[in-house]
Amino acid sequence: MIELNPHYAELKDSYLFYHIAQKTKAYCEAHPGTHLYRMGIGDVSLPLAPAVIEALHAAVDDQAHPATFHGYLPECGAPFFREAAAGHYRSRGIALSDDEVFVSSGASDELGDILDLFSPVSAALIPEPAYPAYVDANVMAGRRIVHLPSCEENGFLPSPDDLPAGEDADLFYLCSPNNPTGAVFSRDQLRAWVDCANRRGAVILFDAAYEAFIEDEDLPRSIFEIDGARTCAIEICSFSKTAGFTGTRCGYTVIPKELERGGQSLHAMWVRNRTTKTNGVSYILQKAGAAVFTDEGQRQIQDNIRVYKENAKTLMRALDSLGLWYTGGKNAPYIWLKCPGGMGSWEFFDLLLEKIQVVGTPGAGFGACGEGYFRFSTFGSPEDTKEAAARMEKLLGKA
Ligand code: MLT
Repeated sequence: MIELNPHYAELKDSYLFYHIAQKTKAYCEAHPGTHLYRMGIGDVSLPLAPAVIEALHAAVDDQAHPATFHGYLPECGAPFFREAAAGHYRSRGIALSDDEVFVSSGASDELGDILDLFSPVSAALIPEPAYPAYVDANVMAGRRIVHLPSCEENGFLPSPDDLPAGEDADLFYLCSPNNPTGAVFSRDQLRAWVDCANRRGAVILFDAAYEAFIEDEDLPRSIFEIDGARTCAIEICSFSKTAGFTGTRCGYTVIPKELERGGQSLHAMWVRNRTTKTNGVSYILQKAGAAVFTDEGQRQIQDNIRVYKENAKTLMRALDSLGLWYTGGKNAPYIWLKCPGGMGSWEFFDLLLEKIQVVGTPGAGFGACGEGYFRFSTFGSPEDTKEAAARMEKLLGKA
């Protein structure tokens, strides 16, 4: 009989956001007609930017005529897409060649697929709390995981000095702005990780899905703003949160040509991987993605991001008035708060769902050190966010 991957047995029964969706579905079935204020999964509520919509329509029309029709595209990305993405980096002073950009279907797909480059005997270092897919993808691959807890004292931004002595993990996951805490590494903090990775021969997987939310100019938006990153880092980017592509699916990954380990180029390995395992991303979606990088596209996505930032302010005002500790919200679309009165994070989840129909994400779902904390996404509609904040103030203000 065929032998199955034994590591699936080591996974939690269900994925965090699936589990929350099941819980909220059960609540809605028990309370028909209830409106939920959804601030759990980071799913956007605003439509795509007009420049993107225009590009989508034009690309569909191209596919309708023999003269403009496209069949297979280069697996690693259409030249127009790679040029637009690399040009975006170059306009921010980061030197990058077009073919160092690889198109993808989004960050979550890519974060799992990229593990093909590494031996299962490498060990993943996952600072926690963490996006649970980092952990699950490595469990599925049978890789050893070193959980590096962070806490309020280090601002939920651990440094290489926090590594236990003798720890030899060599695949570092860094996410900044962070999901779930919203904390952002400074240049010096990121430099410490880059230096550590280069010293050890480790590789950093830098999840930059939330970079567009950074408003403080002295905070790095790309790991390639840090000297030395080209020899140790892969950057994984997504249009999901920056440009509302959660239901559209397109992203990109940057692998510098200098990144080599054991005499092998990770860039060349990824070309080999992509040309074998995918036929790339559709022409239509790459056109939509490229439109995000136009001046118009950039202006329009900022209009949407401003709406989400207003949501963050609404929630932060409520938390301030309740005297609750939190981080994030300013340079990130997530707010990470301490549950009131020492409550457990699932206990707080149930309270908000049952009493005021507000859905958030329990911190414990992001790792053990997230217990006692809670995450709000700011991607909901302004109306729902205002109502959720008002309900929370009323409920918790009485406590
Ligand atoms: C989240 O809520 O953490 C993200 O939206 C999940 C994802 O990007 O897959």
